[in-house]
Amino acid sequence: MATQSRHKIAVFASGYGSNFEVIARAAQAGDIPAEVALMVCDKPTARVCSLADELSVEKFVFSAKDYASKADYEREIVSQCRERGVELICLAGYMRLVDEELLNAYKGQIINIHPSLLPAFPGVNPLERAMEYGVKVYGATIHYVDETLDGGKIIAQRAIEYEGNDIEELTELIHEAEHKLYINTLQKLLK
Ligand code: GAR
Repeated sequence: MATQSRHKIAVFASGYGSNFEVIARAAQAGDIPAEVALMVCDKPTARVCSLADELSVEKFVFSAKDYASKADYEREIVSQCRERGVELICLAGYMRLVDEELLNAYKGQIINIHPSLLPAFPGVNPLERAMEYGVKVYGATIHYVDETLDGGKIIAQRAIEYEGNDIEELTELIHEAEHKLYINTLQKLLK
């Protein structure tokens, strides 16, 4: 695929990075018309940081405590993204609420994936809470990001029927679904 037709995207993550990995590999294989120009992480010891090195993806890793305010580190993130011409920000397990600096700089250009059928179960431990509730149809959602927690207009969803009570098995099923959903959504959004 010609380099000119590839959109520059950034992936933000805080932990394991399986969604980041799938997106970066799809970009490198030409399965999505994108180049992952930057991986942003707020946890210096997270697995996703070494994964970025392995995949030769540039990274910006920060610790919130090194900045006087959230606005300060978000300004730095915006400048890191702008320097690389990032057009779209994909949150993939980035466990921080995005605030004004980022939202204003990238209006309508930030998307997030969440492991539930939003608006059900926003926030932390959605799978555990859903299982506790007795849910039989789980899922994943990709949505535009606004100032609310896991809020914003829904772009795509995938449902998964599961009646068991094994949280690890369910997590694996959700991850599998998320990976397909993210690639599929990026193919549509970047077309
Ligand atoms: C994913 O399941 C993602 O949906 C979730 O974090 C996980 C990250 O996994 N995000 C949220 O809960 C956002 N509220 P990964 O690091 O293996 O991609």
